[in-house]
Amino acid sequence: MYVCICKQITCGQIRAAAGAGANSVRDLKQQLGVASQCGKCAGCARGILEQARSGGPTNGAPRV
Ligand code: FES
Repeated sequence: MYVCICKQITCGQIRAAAGAGANSVRDLKQQLGVASQCGKCAGCARGILEQARSGGPTNGAPRV
């Protein structure tokens, strides 16, 4: 599922970045470009990142 429409970033990419050490939206922005245009995806990206880092569920979103 796309999280960042502007940059076409999926939740799977965000989880992978979290696994590689990203721990903030700033890290995601630097690594993937998340929230670098309109910024509307920042909150959702933060939630996925926090869940990935805590090993928790993904709000029912399918793994992509
Ligand atoms: S949806 Fe991510 S920057 Fe616009």
